Amino acid sequence: ACMLLMMAVMAAACGGGDKGSSQPSSGQAEAGKEAAAGGEKKVLKVGTDAAYPPFEKMGPDSKPVGFDMDIIKAIAEVNGWEVQIEHAGWDPLFEDIEKGKRDIAISTITIDEKRKKKYDFSDPYFDAHQLIMVPESANVTKIEDIKDMRVGVQSGTTGAALAEKILGKGNTKLRGFDDMPSAVEELYAKRVDAVVGDNGVLNDFLKNSGKAGYKVVKDPNVVPEQYGIMVKKGNKELLDEINKGLKTIKENGKYDEIFRQYFGEEKK
Ligand code: ARG
Repeated sequence: ACMLLMMAVMAAACGGGDKGSSQPSSGQAEAGKEAAAGGEKKVLKVGTDAAYPPFEKMGPDSKPVGFDMDIIKAIAEVNGWEVQIEHAGWDPLFEDIEKGKRDIAISTITIDEKRKKKYDFSDPYFDAHQLIMVPESANVTKIEDIKDMRVGVQSGTTGAALAEKILGKGNTKLRGFDDMPSAVEELYAKRVDAVVGDNGVLNDFLKNSGKAGYKVVKDPNVVPEQYGIMVKKGNKELLDEINKGLKTIKENGKYDEIFRQYFGEEKK
């Protein structure tokens, strides 16, 4: 035990120049642990559902790209981490974090009370709200107006929960899809009459999908949301580093630079 203690003291003393990575870390996925023990950069596994443009989509070489990816890379730079970003899919992402298969989930995940029971979230990094996407001719001004419509949502999202509240649980007119593009495709194919989802992604479809004849409707009475970066419950060390990184990039202008790149001068 004495010998071990001595080694630990020596390691601490010699690793001085590279503090972050020489500290032992708890709850990290295996790759990260090995790298940290070797005194190299902390390697963290980051997951996303890369089907939510412009926040996350598949880029070249099957690598997710988008606003969220730039944010987590900027946070990684502050902390001196190496991040391995992969597409996980929406439902699997939550499972992966719970099981410790991935360290970090960044995927426009809304911080909500139910999720907070099972996971931990960073400080909010983005303000969002739900929108209703419908054909231009549709008579929709508020969320209640979708009550008798066929509605498409991404399953397991806050948009799905909102639509379920309006249509009622078990209503067969409410159709859940594994990802958002599939729901929007059904709208274009006229197999659903409306899609409920986050403002950023639906605005992106409106602008960039090349399909004319659709609009998005905002009901001001629907509760706004905030996105957080998600980690395994109890992984305080990692959460602190994420929050520190987030604070730094908000202060040094990096966050704004990334924001402008994706959203221009829109307000946050
Ligand atoms: N913000 C919504 C939620 O947390 C939808 C997020 C969906 N994001 C995604 N990448 N599929 O439920």
